[in-house]
Formats: sequence, structure tokens, C-alpha cells
Amino acid sequence: MLKTPLCELLGIEKPVFQGGMAWIADASLASAVSEAGGLGIIAAMNADANWLRDQIHELRTKTDKPFGVNVMLMSPFADEVAQVVIDERVPVVVTGAGNPAKYMKAWNEAGIKVIPVVASVALARLVARRGATAVVAEGTESGGHIGETSTMALVPQVVDAVDIPVVAAGGIADGRGVAAAFMLGAAGVQVGTRFLVADECTVSEQYKEMVLKANDTSTRATGRSTGHPVRALKSPFTNAYAKSEAAGASSEELGAMGTGALRKAAMDGNYEEGSFLCGQIAGMVNECQSAREIVDDLVDGAERVLKGASAWVA
Ligand SMILES: Cc1cc2nc3c(=O)[nH]c(=O)nc-3n(C[C@H](O)[C@H](O)[C@H](O)COP(=O)(O)O)c2cc1C
Repeated sequence: MLKTPLCELLGIEKPVFQGGMAWIADASLASAVSEAGGLGIIAAMNADANWLRDQIHELRTKTDKPFGVNVMLMSPFADEVAQVVIDERVPVVVTGAGNPAKYMKAWNEAGIKVIPVVASVALARLVARRGATAVVAEGTESGGHIGETSTMALVPQVVDAVDIPVVAAGGIADGRGVAAAFMLGAAGVQVGTRFLVADECTVSEQYKEMVLKANDTSTRATGRSTGHPVRALKSPFTNAYAKSEAAGASSEELGAMGTGALRKAAMDGNYEEGSFLCGQIAGMVNECQSAREIVDDLVDGAERVLKGASAWVA
């Protein structure tokens, strides 16, 4: 059985987080992952307090296991969402898109385990000093908002820099990836792209089909000129966006282009106008499965690889 100190710390059976995914990671997916023994995470994205409260209540009708909420720090509703997680006694908060320092004291005092997503050693050190329980070190292979450093290079450097558990994210979709993350010093993994095609994932069928058909070169990163790059499947939207970016469009113009594009992909399956956020590992995601099958495959596969690895040592 694969258990790490992270399991004990969070009261989960398997060291697998389902990454928060805006417009996608709702109570349906998160409850299924938590029921399977991992950590399901509801993405609060740009939603308001009422939406999040409803999702938390719905999740609690489906599981009594630990779960998390992903708080997007750039959301206009971040302050009210930060209070909802306290009022609702959410066990784990994972933060995305920035520095959560503003909320750390209140969350720590409420007994919430705070796990910021970081793309650099500097931010990992800062949040560790402010009382983070663990960090998610997310490499540029990931879907969604990305940093510059790859998972392979980032994870061991973060592991060396902080004395709290590190969860590896970006480019992990099978047992080999999980085992590799552990070898780099991680105590768990966060997976987004593979869960896009989970049976319990309510994303549009168009989105799922595009992920299933993707290969190793199907994604591209756009938005570097804005300081907020994003990785998505190549599509009419990313072509148009990249063209505007290359032609020197301002951050405001590019921001306006991007507004609503993920919703169009996730909810409407709008191929022409949608932004289908997705990681580089999509080429290995070839099958729709239940959340439980995915969690089990990740963990069982890692166990096999880790047991077999000793064969290489004389
Ligand atoms: C469609 C999509 C939406 C995402 N939205 C968010 C988000 O709202 N907040 C966040 O912190 N991370 C977000 N992420 C990142 C994931 O939580 C996770 O860290 C990442 O997907 C892991 O890399 P992988 O895609 O290679 O599995 C998103 C990823 C995807 C694919």
C-alpha cells in the first residue's frame, strides 16, 4: 500500500489530489475523488460565496471524507470565498494564482490546512514561513495558469527549500509519473488533466473528446506577454489569441479576448470560441474512467514501478 506522511496529515487514504479546475472541478468530481480515497477539490474560480456554499453542501451529501476548496486569489470574490471556507469548516484550502499571505492567519486560526500552489522556490519559502501546511509545486507542463519551470526541475528545488511536504503537479497522469514525483522528494501528486475525462467530470463532451484525441504536441502556452500565461489545447481560440499577442495587442485587449472563453469550452463545448485548458500530458489520456479507477490506477501503477525500481541497483 502506498502511504506518505501527507495521507496522515490530511486524513486521506491515497496521496493524490484532484487539482482545482475552474468551471470544471465541482461537487460531482470532487466528491467522487474524495470517496475514492484521494483529495477532491472544488474550484471556487470567480464564483461568489453562494455558489461555493451550495457546492460544499452538495459535496457533503455525497461524501464525509476530507476535501478541499481551491481559492483563486485573483477572483473578485476572493474575500467572501475566504470567509466561506472558514464558516463551512472546509478541511483543506489550496490557493492558486498568487500569494495567499493576506488570508493565512485567519485560515490557520480556523484550523484549516492551507496548501498554496507555487511555481517558484521564492513563493514556496514565503508561504512556508507564513504557516502553510504543504505546498503544491506546479510545473509548466500543467494545464491552466502556468509558471516557467518544469516539474522535473521545480519539485526537487522546492523540496530542498522548505521543511513542509511538497505535492508535485504538472505532467503526471500515470503510476510512472507518481513514482517519479516521489523520487524527486514529493509526498503526493496533484493531477488535473487526467481527471478532465473522469466519468463524474461534468465538463462538455466536446472538451473530453479533444483531450482524448490530443497528442504530445497538442497544447500551447499563450499570454506570456501579459505576465499570466495559460496552457490550453490548440484551437481556433488559441490561434486567434496568439496572433493578436504576436501583433502586439495590449494586456487589456488580450484579457478581454480571454474573458468567458473557458466557460464556453467547459459548459458549451464551443470549439470555435472556447479555451480548452489542458496539460502537455493529454497525449497519454486515452480513456474515460471513473474517478476511482483513475485514483487506483495512479496509486497501483506507482507501487509497481517503485517495487520494480530496485532491479536497477546492483
Ligand atoms: C482545465 C483546467 C483548469 C484549471 N483551473 C485551475 C484553477 O482554477 N485553480 C488552480 O489553482 N489551478 C487550476 N488548474 C491547475 C490544476 O489544478 C493542476 O494543478 C494541474 O492541472 C496539474 O497539471 P496537469 O494538468 O498536467 O495534471 C487548472 C487546470 C486545468 C487543466
